[in-house]
Amino acid sequence: MNTSEKPGLAIMTSGGDSAGMNPAVKCAVEYASQRGYKPFLVYDGLRGLIANKIVPASAELVSGIMHKGGTVLRSSRSPQFFELETRRIAYENLKSHGIGQLIVIGGDGSFRALNQFYADFQIPFAGIPATIDNDIAGTDYCLGVDTALNVIRQSIDSIRDTASSFSRAFVVEVMGRHCGYLALTSALSCGAEICLVPEIEYNLDTIGARIKQDIQNGRGYVIAVVAEGTNMAEYVTRFINDSIGMEARLTTLGHVQRGGSPTVYDRIMAYKFAVAAVDALEAGQKNSIMTFKDGTYSHLPIEQVADAKYRVDPALIKLATPLAN
Ligand code: F6P
Repeated sequence: MNTSEKPGLAIMTSGGDSAGMNPAVKCAVEYASQRGYKPFLVYDGLRGLIANKIVPASAELVSGIMHKGGTVLRSSRSPQFFELETRRIAYENLKSHGIGQLIVIGGDGSFRALNQFYADFQIPFAGIPATIDNDIAGTDYCLGVDTALNVIRQSIDSIRDTASSFSRAFVVEVMGRHCGYLALTSALSCGAEICLVPEIEYNLDTIGARIKQDIQNGRGYVIAVVAEGTNMAEYVTRFINDSIGMEARLTTLGHVQRGGSPTVYDRIMAYKFAVAAVDALEAGQKNSIMTFKDGTYSHLPIEQVADAKYRVDPALIKLATPLAN
């Protein structure tokens, strides 16, 4: 197939931003060009599709972006895209540029939106999983997770300095709307004493008794990592302060976890996912999501991703269960 036979290929980021999106955009543009596609960039995510913020990609537009966190294409969540008439405008915009395929870098909400768009107007897309929550079914890894984990690790290392100096407990709330992956992995890798996540049943009585015993045995400070999705951070802080009797402070890390220069791992994963996405479209896949499962890169039909629930690695859950009891 030569260039003139290939449809324009647009690349966009959508939903919550995450580190690794920029290297994915850069690689998708470069690899698509090598494969004879004419690549385009969509700015502002789904809103940009509707508002026709679509430009031909160039080497200049994607140079010097590898090390930047977030997404230079910007992103959005667009309730408007749920309306057929709005999607029709997006379709007309793509058609006016000669674009017949899309690569979307984002989460499962964005994949669902693009799948509806495919059902309406038969514009095939390939999805690259990118969300710090790491909650997309079918893949062990989503872009941005390693960078977020390193931001959290650095924060907890700093908090440990002040906690140990002042003999205090610190509850650190980490992101994860419904998924405890960030909290679990951070608690284990930072040596926390307590970890609360939606995936593990926790028992504050046994936690209290265990920590009191530790204090009697000489423990001078405590680190608790709590997933946003449990909604328990404030409660646990009061519990440690009032019931365990150690002065406690709460640190909510918040959106700082979404930023930062992508780690080497996120950059390389971005490249591998981007190549897989272009290859999947070229091989005729219409609505597949790139995956990395048990060390293997592949792709799955959207239904197997969007309709399934992500399950955190049982080995991680087993390791962290003592921290919830
Ligand atoms: O999905 C990523 C995420 O950062 C979640 O961890 C968090 O609950 C949510 O997005 C925050 O969304 P917003 O940026 O819209 O406040």
